[in-house]
This record gives sequence, C-alpha cells and structure tokens, in this order.
Amino acid sequence: MPVQHIIFGRPVSLRMPPRRIQAVLFLVFLCASGILLFGAPTSVDVPSVQQISDAVKNPKLPSVPKLPNPFRPSAHEPPPVQANSTDGKAKWYSDWTWRNPFSSSITLDENRAVLPPLMKRTPVYTFYELDTKKDKAVLKAENQLLLTWRRAWWAKGFKPVVLGRPEAEHNPLYRLLQTKKLKPALERDVTRWLAWGSMGSGILSNYLAVPMAAYEDPLLSYLRRGDFPKLTRFEGLNSGLFYGPQNAISDVIKVALDNPDLEKELSLTSAVPADALAVDNQGASIAYYEPTVINTKYKAVADALGSPLSAAGLTALQQLINAHLQTTWQNTFSAGISIVKPGKHMSELIAPAIDIARNLTACAASPIPFSCPPNLPKCHPCNPSHHLLISTLPVFRNSTKELFSIGTVPHPYTFASLHHQKDVLDPRYIRRDLKDRDPWLAFTTKELLGTAVSAATRVVRFKDAVAAEYGQAHSLWLTAERESHEDLDWIFGFELPRDHVRDGKSETPVPGPERRPRVKEENEDAAKPTEAELEVERRLLQKARSAINSKVKQQIVVKEAVEAWNLADTEAWRFARAWSARRRVERRKWEEEEKEFAGAEGGRGGGRWGRWFERGR
Ligand SMILES: *[C@@H]1O[C@H](CO)[C@@H](O)[C@H](O)[C@H]1NC(C)=O
Ligand SMILES: *[C@@H]1O[C@H](CO)[C@@H](O)[C@H](O)[C@H]1NC(C)=O
Ligand SMILES: *[C@@H]1O[C@H](CO)[C@@H](O)[C@H](O)[C@H]1NC(C)=O
Repeated sequence: MPVQHIIFGRPVSLRMPPRRIQAVLFLVFLCASGILLFGAPTSVDVPSVQQISDAVKNPKLPSVPKLPNPFRPSAHEPPPVQANSTDGKAKWYSDWTWRNPFSSSITLDENRAVLPPLMKRTPVYTFYELDTKKDKAVLKAENQLLLTWRRAWWAKGFKPVVLGRPEAEHNPLYRLLQTKKLKPALERDVTRWLAWGSMGSGILSNYLAVPMAAYEDPLLSYLRRGDFPKLTRFEGLNSGLFYGPQNAISDVIKVALDNPDLEKELSLTSAVPADALAVDNQGASIAYYEPTVINTKYKAVADALGSPLSAAGLTALQQLINAHLQTTWQNTFSAGISIVKPGKHMSELIAPAIDIARNLTACAASPIPFSCPPNLPKCHPCNPSHHLLISTLPVFRNSTKELFSIGTVPHPYTFASLHHQKDVLDPRYIRRDLKDRDPWLAFTTKELLGTAVSAATRVVRFKDAVAAEYGQAHSLWLTAERESHEDLDWIFGFELPRDHVRDGKSETPVPGPERRPRVKEENEDAAKPTEAELEVERRLLQKARSAINSKVKQQIVVKEAVEAWNLADTEAWRFARAWSARRRVERRKWEEEEKEFAGAEGGRGGGRWGRWFERGR
C-alpha cells in the first residue's frame, strides 16, 4: 500500500520516497529534537524570515546573517569589548553580524551598535627625506604636499605611511649601500627602496602620485585587496608607483646593488634587467605630477617652482593637486548631490548637509583654474557658473552611481518634535498622537522599498546605505555628532573649499554669494520657509538636542519612551552615530601611530612638526 507522506502540511504521494525527501525528513526530525532538547532559540538570535530571504535574494552580499546555532545556550554573554570602540556616547562592536536589524540582540546593550568589521587598509608607502638646510617655508610647503598625498590615499581606503632614512637603516642591505659611492639622486632612490623593503609587502608611491578616480575604480579595488604576487611597475608612471611582495623587493635591491655599473644608472629600476619587474598598464587612475608633467602641462606652476624649488611654487602645486582631486570627485558624481530631507520642517536640520554640498560643488582655489589632472585630460573642469546640481529629496535615492547622497539622521525625538512642531513631548502625546512608528525610516526608504515592508527590513537596508562598500562610497550620513571640517577632508580626500575668499592672491574666479550653487527643492513643502519659520525650527532643534542629552530623570523617561516607540529609527540613529564615530577613531588612532612622521599633523598649515623636523637630519 502506498504511503501518504505529509511534508510541511502538503500531502506528497510517492511510491518510494527518494533520498532527498528522506534527508528532509531527517532534518525536520533533527530540528524538532533539537528544539525539544535545547528549547526553541529565542527571538534574540534568530534572523527574521525577511532577513534570510533578503540574503537569499541577494547572494552577493558578503555577510549572511549568522544562522542560529542550536547548540548554543539561548542566553548569551555580551560580546567582548574591542579596542578603541567608544567615542563620546557612541559605542560599537565590529562584527560580521552587522546586518541584523537590531544591534542590541547581539550586544545586549541598547547603546552599542554592531558595525561591519573594520576594513583592513593596505599600506601605501612614500619616502620623504627632511633636509633641514632648506628654508622653513619650503619645509612647510612640502609638509602640505605630504598631507595632500596622505588624505587622498586614506580616502580611497589605504593606509598611507611616510618613510624616511631610519626605515632604510633597518634594512640589512643598507650596509651594502654604504660601501658604494653613488650620486645623491641615485643614492636617494636606492634608500627609498631599502625603506620600502624593510616594511613588508605593499605599495610604494612617490608623494606626487595620488589616486584620481572613483572609489570603485578597478585598479584601486585591486590595490586595496593588497594581494601582490609580483613586483610590478606601471606603464607611463615611471617611478611613481610600484607594488609587490617583500621578498621580491629585497631581491631586486640585491640585484641592483650587485650591478658593477650601478653608479652609472639614474635609478634603481634602470640598474636591474627589464624583466625584473612586471608591467601593469592600468595606471590611468593615478595622477603623477612628475617634473616633466608639470613642465609640459602646468606651465604656471613650473614657473612658480623655479630652481631650487620655491615655497610658493610648492604651495601652488599643492593647490593644483587638491583642486584636481575635487574636480575628479565632481566628475565622478556628475548627477550631483541629493540631500535626503524626509518629513516636514526639516530645513534647519539639514542645513549642515546643504553647507557641505555647496562646498563640495564649489570650485577650489587653483593656480590654474579650468585645468584637468594629468591622468584625466578630458575631465570637466570645475566651473563656477555651472555647478553640479544640489537637490533636496523627500527620500533616499539610489538610482545611479553618479549621484552622491548626504543624509541627516535625526534622533526620533528630534524628528517628532520638528515634524509635528511640538515643543515638549510627553508620554501621553507619544502614545496618543504619534501614530506611525519609525516615520523617518519609512519616509527615507519609501522609494527603495515601497510602503509594504517591515521596519526591520528598512533598517537593514539603511545600514547598507551607510556602511556597505557601495554605500560608504556614495553617501555621507550625518548625525547629531557632527563631522568636523577635518573629518570631511579625510572622508573626501581633499580639502573642501571653505573660505572662498581666503586666498586673495589666487586667480581663481571667486564665487560670490549670488554665484553659490543653488539648491533645487523636490520636497512636498517646497515653499521656502520664512525666516520666522526657520527660527521656530532652530528653537525646536535646540530644545530637542538638549532633551536628548538631558540628565533629568523625567526627560530620560520621555526620551526612552520615544525610542521604544521608534525602535528602528533609534537603531538607525545609533548605527549612523557609531559609524561616523568609528571612522573618526580609526583615523585618530592611525594618526597617533604616525604622528612621528612628517605630514601627520592634519592641521592646515602649522601645527607640530613631525620627527623629521625635530631630528634635524
Ligand atoms: C544602491 O545601488 C547599488 C548599485 O545598484 C547597489 O549595489 C546598492 O546595494 C544599493 N544600495 C542600497 C542601500 O539599496
Ligand atoms: C563651507 O564654506 C563656508 C564658506 O564658504 C564655510 O563657512 C563653512 O564652514 C564650510 N563648511 C564646511 C563643512 O566645510
Ligand atoms: C586606542 O586604545 C589605546 C589602548 O587602549 C589607547 O592608548 C589609545 O589612546 C586609543 N586611541 C584612540 C584614538 O582612542
């Protein structure tokens, strides 16, 4: 008699249950007995159906939510505190489980957000030798160039390191160099390689070689992976950029030092056989401002540089590179900047975002306005009368990779207070009148996700927009903890123009107030708010900020009630806050490690000198 099998409530009629069905049945049995033996996993560590189906639909996501381990006790310990994982009130835990909708299900701490693991930064080295006999102003200008180089590489996800002679001295091969009598330029080149060789695998860059391309450019993505099987140079970049593994670097130095005709050569690479280095012809994402390039393409800077190099010329070169980095950014985001502005009465809330957008689309001071970087001769130079479009949108738009988004993530208290124009929120009002939960996320992700998905799905998508590799390269999310100018410079990789009339001597067309980029409003309440309305917004914003940070018990109760009512909006706010705090801490930590080096002070002009300036070699 045929057996009537029932699987998941549906009858299946089979003469002979095939192996697969048997396996499924066995699995179901295992699960059932697992649940009987160990109790059902609590909601704490089970990813939602939606999450799992998201992960299944989108298999290229690098991390799938961790599946519950049936053998794990259901009450887990909070994960250990990681080094450098707090800043002010923000706390975080870096882990692959970051795509869980609610961090506290992992950290067991309301205030501790789960962030994606910190990306490992591939080191990019440059060599700089201080010559204290040089004029102070020249040293300062060189320092600014190093800073520009560091910022540009940092923003593309690398770890820039400035090396000097001490690193070369650590290389056992340095003794061999000392036995030779070489011309200063060649001696310096060999020393540079020795310094690189003492560090390990990585990239060696001249500090006049900077990345000028989109973050996701294939060469930059390749270099970021940091897996370098062969010592390689670039077609057309001369000695601007190399990458390779440590043993190959040492080998090539040995070959060069063994060359009896070494002293006749101009550089280390010309002293080794041509096939000692592989050649990469994909170097077009790197701009290398070597002397021949400056002489042929940037005459005004070449003239200012003179010989020996003048401080004014070096400063002009620094300005030129900085302006080109910004032009490259503007060309990458040719569809302009969209300011995320969901809800009503948010003009004051997003004012800092507009300020940043204006500065990003403004033209930087440059000794040669309307010029293009050497690697992008066909760029669209920054033109003060044709700025990129800045528009405010009631949603987050993710339609094209040429659009950059700047969002402002309000605390749900702030959002409610502005949106409903309420001075004071109290628990009764929250229960009775704030009908919709998580309104900010619902508005923000409406275009992406429609209206029929859960808040948990929205918050996971929002986290992607902030912190996934694509998201972080195409958007910036501000929170109450504002980014400083300095933070922004390191995020974008160039110094944002901030005082357009600062440099009176610059020939740059200075955009006056009327020439400042205009902002296009696509909001429903597009009517420009009056000054009186803005004043109300400012007052509410200020009150909300102090209410959130208040230590008065009654206020804390209200704040917590708003948070409990808007769990997903609160999670979004904490996540964005932790994300930007971690980014800041990561940079500060690296600056701490590096502050001994030249170009590290991060300040604009002045600040403390690095060890090169103190040691006086
Ligand atoms: C935005 O679009 C890009 C490219 O289409 C995609 O990879 C990314 O996941 C999207 N981001 C979000 C938050 O949906
Ligand atoms: C933008 O530029 C203005 C002056 O043009 C300056 O006051 C402001 O601080 C700048 N903002 C940022 C974020 O750089
Ligand atoms: C990182 O942690 C170390 C040791 O805990 C501490 O000395 C250092 O100051 C921290 N750095 C930052 C930037 O917080």
